[in-house]
Amino acid sequence: MTSPVTKPDPSYVRIFDTTLRDGEQSPGATMTSEEKLEVARALSRLGVDVIEAGFPSASPDDFDAVRAIAQTIGNDVPQGRIATEPPVICGLARATEKDIRTAYEAVSVAKHPRIHTFLATSPIHREHKLKMTKEQVVTRAREMVTLARSLCADIEFSPEDAGRTEPEFLYEVLTAVVEAGATTLNIPDTVGYTVPEEFGALIAGIIQNVKGVEGVTVSVHCHNDLGLASANALAGIRNGARQAEVTINGIGERAGNTSLEEIVMALHTRAPLYGLRTGIDTTQLTRTSRLVSLRTGMVVQPNKAVVGANAFAHEAGIHQDGMLKHAQTYEIMTPESVGASKTLLVLGKHSGRHAFGVRLRELGHALEGEALEAAFLRFKVLADKKKRITDADLEALAASEVGRAREYFSLEAVQVTCGSNGMPTATVKLRGPSGENIVQAAVGTGPVHAVFTAIDEIVKAPSELIEYSINAVTEGIDALGHASVRLRAAANDGRVNPQHGAGGTQVFHGNAADSDVIVASTKAYLAAQNRLLAMLGTYEKAESPEATARASAN
Ligand code: KIV
Ligand code: ZN
Repeated sequence: MTSPVTKPDPSYVRIFDTTLRDGEQSPGATMTSEEKLEVARALSRLGVDVIEAGFPSASPDDFDAVRAIAQTIGNDVPQGRIATEPPVICGLARATEKDIRTAYEAVSVAKHPRIHTFLATSPIHREHKLKMTKEQVVTRAREMVTLARSLCADIEFSPEDAGRTEPEFLYEVLTAVVEAGATTLNIPDTVGYTVPEEFGALIAGIIQNVKGVEGVTVSVHCHNDLGLASANALAGIRNGARQAEVTINGIGERAGNTSLEEIVMALHTRAPLYGLRTGIDTTQLTRTSRLVSLRTGMVVQPNKAVVGANAFAHEAGIHQDGMLKHAQTYEIMTPESVGASKTLLVLGKHSGRHAFGVRLRELGHALEGEALEAAFLRFKVLADKKKRITDADLEALAASEVGRAREYFSLEAVQVTCGSNGMPTATVKLRGPSGENIVQAAVGTGPVHAVFTAIDEIVKAPSELIEYSINAVTEGIDALGHASVRLRAAANDGRVNPQHGAGGTQVFHGNAADSDVIVASTKAYLAAQNRLLAMLGTYEKAESPEATARASAN
């Protein structure tokens, strides 16, 4: 990696990953600090140049998570990372003194800290959101970049909604911030409005018209509202941008951001066309995609480019015939190049803790202490039932939420009765916040509905189920089932994280794997409920009235 402050060599495209900031703004993608650290470690190993670790002013938790990432990931070069320096750790800040100082405080402990400050520039944002004139926008941008630069050598500025900003005004703002000391000019198509020719021309215009631009890095940040985020980002790169802001699996606000794996593999696969390179180890793409999907609860669509389950599946007879004759007839990249080759048979019931821990670490899951022990016990139970334990099984076990987030309610037992005759009924036994056992039975339209209804009766957290899915982790009759649940907090609760929008509609996810799909579903639903309870803070007080009442009732 070249110095993060100076421009990279002209053939190098910096990868700025914002999975932990813009990606985490996807409804329901909220991660715990521990999960953010785990994802940041995986991103560093993957080889990203810059990790946007969060928005430190959003909440004390966000501040702490960014600082923890800066402290650890920002001072370490993990095994497997191609670059010899740790990644830059970046914190987002609105163009206010308080945000900028807070962001700096959070990232300053990293070896390479960066402040990323932004201010909207488009007419619609100036008039309706900021209520500022053009002159006021230029003055504020200049003053805030000057302040940021007085604290930190590496400053990125984004004119929010650049895609809908008058180009001449954009040049004026960008010239002012370059004079004030910005080292990266990031050009966001905040609402995913532009099309590739237009966005490419916008970048070309900036490179031609902004004074001092030759000394800074131009960056692209595209949203996917029209499904054009990757095409727009590539058009920007062809026109001279040398940093791409991306997220794993393309997660992010609304329809998401440019997806890291698409940009990296486009530059890699079409290297003769672009003549550009990145510092990414492409063989880690599939593994990183899976980790982010599990930690955020954002399921990857099977036909997703590069990392989807079907990305290398050939169904049609004519395709299969072609593949058997020569793989390149229907494959422009190999599964091996993105780390999607067939999973290996790695461990069995006689494998010990050590081998289990080592293999998990190789797969990118840094479980320690109790979490490792809990995963190992789940592995042993599974190994008794299933002869072939694959990497995918291990990843699903490691990803199970049990023992990760705070568990106010945990599963003791679940039993269902169902079939073509009679009413599906579930009996659920949970351990409550004070260690008490609570048993509840319920009927439902199916066994899963019955289980969720019984849990609702016990937990009593106001919520609405918005998504439930169950998938086989591997092929075969004895495959592990992976359940994923997303639920929404009741609309009028009002206790929401401002970063994730108002209206009391915050979304919580949970996932779990088990060889019994009902058990997996129950654990996933409970994990989502526990996240909701953590947000509500119902059980944070040592002697909560609910817990006391429940304990005495049992
Ligand atoms: O989309 C956007 O405009 C952003 C900025 C904060 C860069 O995410
Ligand atoms: Zn964005």
